[in-house]
Amino acid sequence: MRRDPGSRLVLKLGGELLEQADDLQRVAAGIARLARRTAVVVVHGGGREIDTALAAAGIPTQQVDGFRVTDAPTLDVVVGVLAGAINTRLVAALRRTGARPVGLTGADAAVATVRRASPITTVSGTTVDLGLVGAPVSNGTPQLLTDLLARGYLPVVACIGATRKGQLLNVNADTLASHLAAAIGASRLVIAGATSGVLNEEGRTIERLTVRAAARLIRSGTASKGMVAKLEACRAALRRGVGDVLITNGREVRLERLAEARGPLAGCTQVVR
Ligand SMILES: Nc1ncnc2c1ncn2[C@@H]1O[C@H](COP(=O)(O)OP(=O)(O)OP(=O)(O)O)[C@@H](O)[C@H]1O
Ligand SMILES: [Mg+2]
Repeated sequence: MRRDPGSRLVLKLGGELLEQADDLQRVAAGIARLARRTAVVVVHGGGREIDTALAAAGIPTQQVDGFRVTDAPTLDVVVGVLAGAINTRLVAALRRTGARPVGLTGADAAVATVRRASPITTVSGTTVDLGLVGAPVSNGTPQLLTDLLARGYLPVVACIGATRKGQLLNVNADTLASHLAAAIGASRLVIAGATSGVLNEEGRTIERLTVRAAARLIRSGTASKGMVAKLEACRAALRRGVGDVLITNGREVRLERLAEARGPLAGCTQVVR
């Protein structure tokens, strides 16, 4: 299948998919096949490995609704694990597939300009200052990404941003992927993680979800923790013109099928406006 010159897709990978060598190879091969069909920007997280590194450093961790409360020592670990260990590991795995991966963070060439996130109101109603966490600001099209795509490279973005004054900030990977999808005019955002999409109260995959229904899932507590951040990211992407968001299990799905899929896919939730 030939690449459609106009179509773009952002693929967000949860950190859990990038820990084990077999998962990594399978995901990398899927990305390479996907990137032959459409222009892809990869964004990755690293939640669990960051937790492990923080524990090893004796730094306590706190997450609220999927967002990491980040102080200066935490940020150092986040940057080291995400931009250092995980990004380079994924880039190396992609090399084996014949793709032309380029590893970067949101700080490179203003791919993601951020400001410090305002304190958030959590699902439980408390207000929390997340600290050194970035909220992306609209800054036009990230030229570096579109240039790389136009030349056939595969950008692999670690979820870190920098302010205009050069302060690095931790950005939730779903938030960054959503922002970049809108910024590059992607028709679709795919969020691949370790669950079979968004699960209902019985633990079954929800096939299709509107933004309103997603808000109800959060209010009822059926969607919690990291899924709250994900559904918030979906809402933002759809509001800014991304056609749909697929939340899916990166271990089970064939990633290349997600370029054009229209109907329901097993283990996959389609989120629409
Ligand atoms: N209704 C739900 N359906 C599916 N997952 C849910 C739901 N409610 C809560 N979750 C939780 O959300 C988690 C996914 O978010 P999490 O932030 O942990 O991972 P990720 O975003 O894929 O990875 P990373 O943070 O490394 O990018 C799931 O592992 C699950 O525990
Ligand atoms: Mg997450």
